Amino acid sequence: KTIYLKDYQAPDYLIDETHLTFELFEDHTQVHAQLVMRRNPALSAELPALVLDGQQLELLELKLDDRELGAGDYQLTDSTLTVQPTQASFVIDSTVRIHPESNTALEGLYKSSGMFCTQCEAEGFRKITYYLDRPDVMSSFTTTLSGDKQKYPILLSNGNPVASGEEGDGRHWATWEDPFKKPAYLFALVAGDLWCVEDTFTTISARNVTLRIYVEPENIDKVQHAMDSLKKSMKWDEEVYGREYDLDIFMIVAVNDFNMGAMENKGLNIFNSSAVLARAETATDAAHQRVEAIVAHEYFHNWSGNRVTCRDWFQLSLKEGFTVFRDAAFSADMNSATVKRMQDVAYLRTHQFAEDAGPMAHPVRPDAYMEISNFYTLTIYEKGSEVLRMIHTLLGAEAFRKGSDLYFERHDGQAVTCDDFVKAMEDASGIDLTQFKRWYTQAGTPRLAVSDSYDAAAKTYTLTFTQSCPETPGQSESSKLPFVIPVELGLLDAQGNDLPLRLQDEAAAGSNRVLSVTEAQQSFTFVDVAEKPLPSLLRGFSAPVKLSFAYDRDQLMFLMQHDSDGFNRWEAGQQLSVQVLQELIGQHQRGEALVLDARLVSALRTLLQDDTLDQAMVAEMLSLPGEAYLTEISDVADVDAIHGAREFARQQLADALFEPLWQRYQANREVSRNTPYVAEAEHFARRALQNIALSYLMLGDKPEVLAAALDQFENSDNMTERLTALAVLVNSPFEAERSKALEAFAEQFKDNALVMDQWFSVQAASTLPGGLARVQALMEHPAFTLKNPNKVRALIGAFAGQNLVNFHAIDGSGYRFLADQVIVLNALNPQIASRLLAPLTRWRKYGAERQELMKAELERILASGELSPDVYEVVSKSLA
Ligand code: ARG
Ligand code: ZN
Repeated sequence: KTIYLKDYQAPDYLIDETHLTFELFEDHTQVHAQLVMRRNPALSAELPALVLDGQQLELLELKLDDRELGAGDYQLTDSTLTVQPTQASFVIDSTVRIHPESNTALEGLYKSSGMFCTQCEAEGFRKITYYLDRPDVMSSFTTTLSGDKQKYPILLSNGNPVASGEEGDGRHWATWEDPFKKPAYLFALVAGDLWCVEDTFTTISARNVTLRIYVEPENIDKVQHAMDSLKKSMKWDEEVYGREYDLDIFMIVAVNDFNMGAMENKGLNIFNSSAVLARAETATDAAHQRVEAIVAHEYFHNWSGNRVTCRDWFQLSLKEGFTVFRDAAFSADMNSATVKRMQDVAYLRTHQFAEDAGPMAHPVRPDAYMEISNFYTLTIYEKGSEVLRMIHTLLGAEAFRKGSDLYFERHDGQAVTCDDFVKAMEDASGIDLTQFKRWYTQAGTPRLAVSDSYDAAAKTYTLTFTQSCPETPGQSESSKLPFVIPVELGLLDAQGNDLPLRLQDEAAAGSNRVLSVTEAQQSFTFVDVAEKPLPSLLRGFSAPVKLSFAYDRDQLMFLMQHDSDGFNRWEAGQQLSVQVLQELIGQHQRGEALVLDARLVSALRTLLQDDTLDQAMVAEMLSLPGEAYLTEISDVADVDAIHGAREFARQQLADALFEPLWQRYQANREVSRNTPYVAEAEHFARRALQNIALSYLMLGDKPEVLAAALDQFENSDNMTERLTALAVLVNSPFEAERSKALEAFAEQFKDNALVMDQWFSVQAASTLPGGLARVQALMEHPAFTLKNPNKVRALIGAFAGQNLVNFHAIDGSGYRFLADQVIVLNALNPQIASRLLAPLTRWRKYGAERQELMKAELERILASGELSPDVYEVVSKSLA
């Protein structure tokens, strides 16, 4: 069943108060809900039937205003409970029995490693009790939980603790009260045997907030980084957005089984343990940065999501796009802004662009869905964030802040739409964003072709922009109207300096500026341009578009060295690498000998030899565009040619650059050896360069490099160095060393699930032949289980998403394997099944033979029996 935005209707009834009681037992949980309700005063006085949402609930008792309702007084379906109110204000009391102990979908109330926890966004609350489970119904909540005192000494819910006590027979209870009205998707409950680290934060208006992070006892030594990140986030949101925390206590709970990264439940964030736990010995630098970013993200939701929430789920990007934009700016401030931007753009272009070009493409504000869980996408999150970033670019920082202040003030306590957000930005800035809003409604990645011409006599330089946007499901190419595309740019002279930029009829001249491209084709002419310049376009990736300009390789090398915009120096390097790799791919396809353009070697040599450069930047520039990105930019992706060409280039670079790589490796390794681990940008940078150098160096058969890798594996005090050493050994031809390292690692970390996830991933991603057999063998490993989403992602997800040559084996074995897992997971955990499926949905990217094999597997899934709405939607849309 498809739900449409155009069918939105305000709720018939409101829920002013929600009083919940949970009695937690080992074989069931009983939930009593008292809902204080009234007819929505904005609607007519008549009283339509009240239709409550509810799924997989066993109804034990139902009352309307103290009147016990019998079977004839209500109607039940598998997803609704209908009652006829007789007065405008009334109270509904229901008691239901549910089974968290056997809930493997990890939605609603479930158990993870012996503790009770919840995940209600988007529509999980209806699996807890009968309710109006929609974000525009906001209520105050009181929650009482009772459970065995021994097993569940900690009982938590949203808001502030107000009472607790003993029940006798070994049970106890606690009551929590949340003073802020909220939709049901922000409800949370936790009961378990947990320890916590406690700290305090004093807000800008001098209120003291207690901060607690709860984890299983054995993880109590891995919480400090998350706590530091939380305090930094709270301070940053006060300083940058003027947002202060609003309850007396803020809690984070780490759980092992979680479908996504984390959830912003009011005052009680619940996190995937992978997004909380981090310490040097067990978590990589990337994991530390991910924890910092997710802690910030969920904290920032307290305003962008909770205080101001979404009217309906079509508006999801209202809170997610905005909050990703906020957390990206936070991470940029905490670490290196340029590196953060390069990583975000690489991720967007590889994964979101692929989504935007595939069968599930949808606008930032979708207008239809079957299963909302399928719309927690890169488009909603990452492209949504880019849309906000463009508004920030067009308005400027100051007006943007005025706009966000106005938005929070105007809509505090409300459930609103993306239009409301944009309106606040318009009202605060005086800038008309009517055309800009097409970014919310038109799907697909716009193409922006740029050409230039220089008139030496008139000293004018003209840039001509042509934009278009390819067809996406339900939107033809010709139906799409021009976007507003902010193009930040500079013009370089022959020395590499930025020229002053003055448009015709303009007085002021800066050297870096933003042009607003608003028409299908549009030219801008700069005057007083003394020489023919080289343009540096789309600086900082100022819009999520596919830019094309006919740079030759020498020009790209020039930009790599001279562009005043750090992001565009990296971007020039990426474009140079893409050109060189595409040339190699062509040679591979024609069966010719592969010849690497020596200019790439010399460009990278220059970078490696310049020790004044930011090492993180050098590390990023040394990483060639990935196979997934090369796939995305191909019309027809030739898996084997892409892999062959890229590996050839890596090998050639490793040989040609051995000396400088070895020198930088040794220098950095020496510092690492003598420096205690610090989770800060400068240290991340040093280790990043050291590690990418090692991965190149291992491609040559040099005994001193093998010795260095083994030493790094055995004698590092941190997971960043150790895991890279393991990865290079796993991908090396040294079989004995490889198995010894894998065994030693598994023995050392067998009790740490998150580290074991890394161990699975490193093997799943190894592109050596025989990948599928290795993955199948690992599925039998005692540490593996399909019931834990992190394990599924670490092994199966990594295989299908990162090990492209093995997954796309031309005998179809990889596809068959993935489909088998999707069919099993469909019954166990539909959300995970549907996400795992994504690689198969991209079948249109490949040659005829692979297309047939992939489609056949999709059809096999479709015919495999009763499908969850999650899997059904993705499979049926990708076959349509
Ligand atoms: N709102 C969460 C976030 O911070 C995501 C939770 C979505 N969960 C889900 N099962 N779809 O991004
Ligand atoms: Zn979020």
